[in-house]
Amino acid sequence: MAKKELKLRAVVAPTETVIVSAYDEERKADACTLAFYMVSSHVPPCVTIAINATQRRKTLQSILKSKAFVLGFPSVDQVKETDYLGVESGYNTDKLKNIGFTVSDAKMVYAPIVNELLLSLECKVVHTVTIGSHMQITGEVKNILADENILDENGRILLNRLQPIIYDEEQGEYMTLGDKVADAFKTGIEVKKLLDRSTGHA
Ligand SMILES: Cc1cc2nc3c(=O)[nH]c(=O)nc-3n(C[C@H](O)[C@H](O)[C@H](O)COP(=O)(O)O)c2cc1C
Repeated sequence: MAKKELKLRAVVAPTETVIVSAYDEERKADACTLAFYMVSSHVPPCVTIAINATQRRKTLQSILKSKAFVLGFPSVDQVKETDYLGVESGYNTDKLKNIGFTVSDAKMVYAPIVNELLLSLECKVVHTVTIGSHMQITGEVKNILADENILDENGRILLNRLQPIIYDEEQGEYMTLGDKVADAFKTGIEVKKLLDRSTGHA
């Protein structure tokens, strides 16, 4: 198979597009769209976001001052609002109001929850580090608020109900989630069992 060397860049795997919201110094809520988001710890539950610190980002300043943020997960029918929050700055206008989104106080941290989003993680800032252009901010998840309609009978989130917006940075496009292809952890264990049997490790 022929391979080609690519222009140097941080090639981004498709990510779930998120909306991060925070209060500024005057308790005004702002939010911006992020693609750079990851789960960074299970115990305690932590997520890490990366915000460009070389450019003016109001949400970054608000998070650093308030030491808290809410990570909200928009659904595909909110793609226009989501993209708008990523192309306009809270320094210029009241983005949330313009787009018709409303906010409530988060229960466990000092940050605004965007009511229209089906899933929100309330996060307290526990660590920051700057690598190159971006500041990585790790937040410990202090509370999770989910719309009942996206949960199964065990309270687990059903991604096909949440309908997250998948962002493809390579093509600059938003996509929907694809179909299930296999069971995680079980599929690999089946392969391991077969290989162990053939190599006599079992
Ligand atoms: C799809 C998408 C993904 C984005 N991801 C990030 C990101 O991960 N980090 C970042 O610093 N900015 C990201 N942005 C840009 C910010 O959302 C944008 O600069 C926003 O206007 C900042 O608003 P603020 O000044 O109100 O904070 C993204 C924008 C879009 C449309």
